[in-house]
Amino acid sequence: MGPYQSILAGVIAIVTYASYQAYLTNGWLSYLPVYVSAIDKGKGTIYCTQPGRIYTSTEPEFSNIPDTATCFEVLADGNFGNVWKDRDEVEEKRDVVDVDGWVLPGLWDGHGHIVPYGLMEAGVKVYDQNMPEVIDSILAYLETHPTSGSRDNWIQGTGWDQAYFGGNMPTAEQLASHPLLSDLYIYLSRVDGHCAWISPAILRLLPSPLPPAPPGGAIPTNGVFCDNAMDNLLFPLMPPVTDEMVETYITTAVPLLHRVGLVGVMDAETIYHEVGVYKKLAKEGRLGMRVYGMLECKQRNTFCPEVEKANIISKEGAFILRAVKIFGDGALGSWGAALIDPYEDEPTSGTMLMNSTQLTELTSQWFVRNWQVNIHAIGDEANREALNAFEAAMTLHPDMAEDRRLRLEHAQIIHPDDQPRLQSLRVIPSIQPTHATSDMAYALDRLGLPRLQHSAYRMSSLFPTPEHPDKIPPIFGSDFPVEPPAPLAGMHAAVTRCDPNKVSCDRDKLWEEEKVDRVKALRGFGRNVAFGGWLEGYGVGKIVKEGWGDWIVVDADMMDEKVELRKLKVLETWVGGERKWSFSDDLRNGKEKIDGEKRVGAEGAQQKPMGY
Ligand SMILES: *[C@@H]1O[C@H](CO)[C@@H](O)[C@H](O)[C@H]1NC(C)=O
Repeated sequence: MGPYQSILAGVIAIVTYASYQAYLTNGWLSYLPVYVSAIDKGKGTIYCTQPGRIYTSTEPEFSNIPDTATCFEVLADGNFGNVWKDRDEVEEKRDVVDVDGWVLPGLWDGHGHIVPYGLMEAGVKVYDQNMPEVIDSILAYLETHPTSGSRDNWIQGTGWDQAYFGGNMPTAEQLASHPLLSDLYIYLSRVDGHCAWISPAILRLLPSPLPPAPPGGAIPTNGVFCDNAMDNLLFPLMPPVTDEMVETYITTAVPLLHRVGLVGVMDAETIYHEVGVYKKLAKEGRLGMRVYGMLECKQRNTFCPEVEKANIISKEGAFILRAVKIFGDGALGSWGAALIDPYEDEPTSGTMLMNSTQLTELTSQWFVRNWQVNIHAIGDEANREALNAFEAAMTLHPDMAEDRRLRLEHAQIIHPDDQPRLQSLRVIPSIQPTHATSDMAYALDRLGLPRLQHSAYRMSSLFPTPEHPDKIPPIFGSDFPVEPPAPLAGMHAAVTRCDPNKVSCDRDKLWEEEKVDRVKALRGFGRNVAFGGWLEGYGVGKIVKEGWGDWIVVDADMMDEKVELRKLKVLETWVGGERKWSFSDDLRNGKEKIDGEKRVGAEGAQQKPMGY
């Protein structure tokens, strides 16, 4: 080999090595655009609406007048370039793509569950069904999935609620009531995910007689297992989930999330074995959206620092992992939420899934390793204990207490003494506007009036005010698949405090006090989410120069008080400057009818003229 060849070989080796390193950290698609934009001299595509139909969500915190624009540019790297207030500001003779409709920043769900949503879409759905309907649904599923129901391939489903069974928790025998089902392995999650209802075949895998429920768990009937009883007794029996299954669930869920206008999700339970699949999909540019994970170890509420953090970002999507999820308590519907004072309708105060010593220790363990700690806390006792654990971690490690952005997931019932602690500890509330409207039916029974009035489902009082500018504004989410993922339905609930799935609204006056305006509702599912994951530098939830080029097009003006937010239709969803979903493409393909969601008023929206 001559000198030139060896120099050339060396250069190739260095370039290849650098590329390989870039591939390892980012995936090749993420550095490809660097070359493209260099060639392209930075000139991107310009999109314009009718005057002022772009809501950029860049107005100051205390303004309730939304900032608007008319045109924006998306560069080849998938990020926004210039944003123009008026069309005549756009320089020289450049081609413009006209957008029919109103543009919003790409929406985020601050707390959702991608894999369970995909699993739910791929499994049996028994939402709002009585017992005969549940059995019919399983039989219908069995027809299309004839090999399911074996020991290695359980029939899985989601959505039951004992309210549809006359208020009685179901039993294993009821799942075997049809001869075709009698020997099958059937596992159905309650609508809130906190209990599982299993068939006799699965029950037979457990010791007989059944052991007593572990602390933090309940076995209300022969066949239903809640919280720690479900985790400790049932999870170990489940057939192993393969990477292929996880990939199927993710790739099933993501296109459905695009349809409702989501470009990003904070995945509120990214389980140990899912991490590798997300990393792979993100590196290969196949994820299609922004995912901010919250790690859960192989066993819930444990410590697994061997998992590597991730920051895989490209125009095709993103997977970021630097947060963990810890479960403080259960849910209100199944009396699992931990309350300071007993429930109004049961002689119990619910249960913490860990005692305060354990919760504080686990929180501190993750905290000192520089992970963001996000604690599921529904009841006022759980919220108090979580705040105590955060305070203890920051007090024990003052050198590490700066900018930690610790989060309360749900923050549903907060004692008035504890609410100001969010501000003093700089803790982020991550709330779900549709939980408030769904829980309305039983929250009064569970909590009684005073507690409902002063503690439950805070929303507007969590936002900063000129008097309290240090409050961190709440992050909004849906907790899908517990609720439908549509953020516009969540905004409807936030603005009206009415159930977006019900035509009438019979809420009590007291629910109204905590409603928010439309500008805040948009921020809740947009720019407020950014702070919860150090994403503000990417312009998450905003249409802003150098931010991620993620936006959606809707069919009406969301700021017009006459427009019902739940009836707004998402027409297009764009991630990294690429259109991921379009209503009109789906119409052409005749696919628009498979939308699994309850879309109240969707017919009305479709009758509107599409051109503006
Ligand atoms: C908390 O739980 C742990 C593990 O079950 C136990 O060892 C400890 O004594 C408990 N602490 C308190 C204060 O109850």
